[in-house]
Amino acid sequence: MKHKTAIIIGASSGIGREIVRILASQGTIVAAVARRKPMLDELVAEFPGKVLAFEHDVLNTDEVPELFLEITKQLGGLDLFVYNSGVMPEVESSEFDFQKDMDMVNVNMVGAIAWCNQAANRFQHTKHGCLVGIGSVAGDRGRQLQPVYNASKAFLHSYMESMRNRLCRYGVIVSTIKPGPVDTDLAKHMKMKKMSARQAAEICVTKFHKNGEHYLAFFHRFAFYIIKRIPSPIFRKLKL
Ligand SMILES: NC(=O)c1ccc[n+]([C@@H]2O[C@H](COP(=O)([O-])OP(=O)(O)OC[C@H]3O[C@@H](n4cnc5c(N)ncnc54)[C@H](OP(=O)(O)O)[C@@H]3O)[C@@H](O)[C@H]2O)c1
Repeated sequence: MKHKTAIIIGASSGIGREIVRILASQGTIVAAVARRKPMLDELVAEFPGKVLAFEHDVLNTDEVPELFLEITKQLGGLDLFVYNSGVMPEVESSEFDFQKDMDMVNVNMVGAIAWCNQAANRFQHTKHGCLVGIGSVAGDRGRQLQPVYNASKAFLHSYMESMRNRLCRYGVIVSTIKPGPVDTDLAKHMKMKKMSARQAAEICVTKFHKNGEHYLAFFHRFAFYIIKRIPSPIFRKLKL
C-alpha cells in the first residue's frame, strides 16, 4: 500500500531511519522527527523534496499540538503516523534507578500518548489513516532484566489496542509492531542474534496498513503464543 504522506517520530537512527528511507524511496513525502537534527538532515540530502526534517524532543509534550499542525500543513495531509521513539538504557539485574525508569516512561509512554492523540484525533475526523506504534516482544512478559522497559512496551500494546477498538468505526487502521532483537544503538548492549535495522524496517512497512499486532519474525508468533501462556512461577524459574 502506498502512503502519500507520513510522519515518523524517532526517525534519526535504527529502525525509524530505515523506515524513512524505504517510504521516501517509494515516493511518500515523509516528516522525519527526532532530536539529532544532523542525522535528519542526512535523510533530507539523500531524498530531496521527499523528506522534511523536524527537530523535536518528545519530552517537550507542550510543543506537540502546534508542531503536529505545522507538519501536517507542510505535508498537505496525513496518511500514515508512526510512533517509533524509544529508549532502553542498560539496567543491571540488581539496579533500581528512578531516573533511567522515568526516561523510559517519558519517551516510550508519555511521548507516545502526546503524539498519538494528535494523529488519532485527525484520523477520526478525516476517516482515513494508519496509526502505528512500535512495541516490542519485551512487552509480552514481565522479565527480570528490564522491568520498566517491558512495562512501557506492554503499556504501548494495550494503548494501541484501545486506539484500534475506538478508531475502527471510522475506517482507521491501528497497527502494533513487536520487533525482536534488532541491530541498532538501542540494543547494542544485548549479546544475541539480531535482525538488521533494514530488514526490520522492510517488514514493518508491510504491516503498517494491517489492523492488529504483528511480530517481525515468523517464529516469534508461535514462540510468544506459548511464552505468554507459561504460568508465572514456571516463567520465573526459566529466568528469561
Ligand atoms: N533494537 C531492538 O532490539 C528493538 C527491539 C524491539 C523494539 N524496539 C523498538 O524500536 C524502536 C526504535 O528503536 P531502535 O532499535 O531503532 O533504536 P535507536 O536507533 O536508538 O532509535 C531510537 C529512536 O528514538 C528516538 N528518540 C529517543 N529519545 C527521544 C526523544 N527524547 N525525543 C525524540 N526522539 C527520541 C531517537 O532519536 P534522537 O535520539 O535523535 O532523538 C531515535 O531516532 C524503539 O521504540 C524500540 O523500543 C527495538
